[in-house]
Formats: sequence, C-alpha cells, structure tokens
Amino acid sequence: MPLVSGKEILQAAKKGGYAVGAFNVNNMEIIQAIVEAAEEERSPVLLQASQGAIKYAGLDYIVALVRVAAGKVSVPVALNLDHGTSFDQAMKCLRGGFTAVMLDGSHYPFDENVALVKKVVAVAHAVGVSVEGELGRIGGTEDDISVDAKDAYMTLPEEAKKFADLTEVDALAVAIGTAHGVYHGEPKLDFERLSAIRKIVDCALVLHGASGVPDEAIKRAVKIGVQKINIDTEIRQAFTNGIKKVMAEKPNEFDPRKLLGPSKEAMKEVVKSKMRLFGSSQKA
Ligand code: G3H
Ligand code: ZN
Repeated sequence: MPLVSGKEILQAAKKGGYAVGAFNVNNMEIIQAIVEAAEEERSPVLLQASQGAIKYAGLDYIVALVRVAAGKVSVPVALNLDHGTSFDQAMKCLRGGFTAVMLDGSHYPFDENVALVKKVVAVAHAVGVSVEGELGRIGGTEDDISVDAKDAYMTLPEEAKKFADLTEVDALAVAIGTAHGVYHGEPKLDFERLSAIRKIVDCALVLHGASGVPDEAIKRAVKIGVQKINIDTEIRQAFTNGIKKVMAEKPNEFDPRKLLGPSKEAMKEVVKSKMRLFGSSQKA
C-alpha cells in the first residue's frame, strides 16, 4: 500500500500499548528484509534514512526503493528522516515523499531547538507529515559523568513537556541512558525518568540506541509508554555477519547474490524478533 504518515502508526501504537520499530535502511536488501518481515509479522513499520544513508544511496533512490517495497505489502509502512539536522534537508525529504521527519536540534540551546523544530512542524503538518524532535543528548556511555552533569545530559521531564507543548511535535526522542552503536557493558536505563516524562507528555516517545539493550529493559520501556524504537546497529551486524559467514565457508564465491541473500534472511530474523519484542506483531 502507499506510504502512510508516521503519525498514524504512532497514534495507533499509543492507543494499543505497543511500540513500533524504526529500522535504518541503506540499500535494497535492507529495505526488502524489513518490509518482508513486517508483512510476515503483520506489523506496522517505520523505515528510516539517516544523513549517511541519504549521502550513500541518494534521497531519490531511497524513496523509490521504499515506495516499491511498501507497494508490495498490505501493512502500514512509513518513511522517516532520521536525525535530520537542518530545515532545508527536512524540506527536501518532504518534497521527496518522506512521511515522517526527525529534526534533531538536541545540540542547540533549548530555545533554538524549539524554534527550529517549530518551523519544520508548521510545514510538515500542513502536508500530513509527522515530526520527531529530540531533547537531551543520546551519546556514549554515561559512566564517567557525575550525577549533576548526567542530569543535564539526560532529558528533563519538565523541559520535555515544555518542548512538546511549544513545538507540537508528534514524537519526542528522549535521552534516558541509551547510546548509539555497540555497548561496552550493559546499558542502564533510567525508567523513573521515562515514567516521569510519560506522565506529563502526550506525544509519542522514542527510544534511540536500542540495539543491544536487553529484552527485559525494552519490555519495561514499552510498558511505561515508548511508541517508537530505533534499531540500526543490529541490522548492520546481521548484514555483515551474513557476508562474513559465506566468505568463510566459500572463500571463492564471487556472486553478489549469494553473498547478500543470506544476509537478507539474517536481517529479516532480527527485524521479526524485534517486532515480537516491541509488541507490534499482529497489530497491522
Ligand atoms: O537513530 C538511530 C538509532 O538510534 C540507532 O540505534 O545504533 O542502537 O541501533 P542503534
Ligand atoms: Zn538515533
């Protein structure tokens, strides 16, 4: 079916008490793996492209590939700009056919972040596209940071409410202890902070850096009220491990399809298991 707005998917998730995976895409095999997994699980899904993905594949290629993939299935699929950094780029994505955009102004002072996101919301909402903002910094490990500094780094509940009210975002990425990339040690999520935010903020909440977070922690975050969960690293790992496995077993293999086929199946399995974990399976 045609791409749907991120808002439609996230509102249904909030109502139904589950979260939807937002999986990063870079090429055809990754897109096929995610969309086929969604169809087989009967799950709504968000595909998302980062700055790096747009630079690597090209915005037009990403939109075209995702549209074709979504057109072959009967579950809701949205295409999101992940960690968008500028107004201009968000506009290019709107024009290109994205149905959700994230404007990550978390590195700016609060007021600048609000002003930038508000500008994007005004245009995006006019054409039915949802917007995600970010407050707090989702970075590396928090181990060396003192409690005060850590507090300043993580999302403050009162600020989150103010941000959501002022910008009218559809989704808000919160910093509660997760980090992008591979974890060195077990991540410790601040569930009290998440509950405090959930109590006073109405829009969908987003968990970034969810690869490598233990299943029990994910379940708890979903129960408290996260609606969108971002996964990139675990897909990359499945992709490259699949290629490494074929190369180890058949060092003389030179057919790209024989290298990438098993990777696609491995990514599919990762995506399906996340959909079951997030509670989005059978919700489409
Ligand atoms: O925006 C993308 C995600 O936050 C990626 O997180 O590196 O844990 O997969 P990840
Ligand atoms: Zn992220």
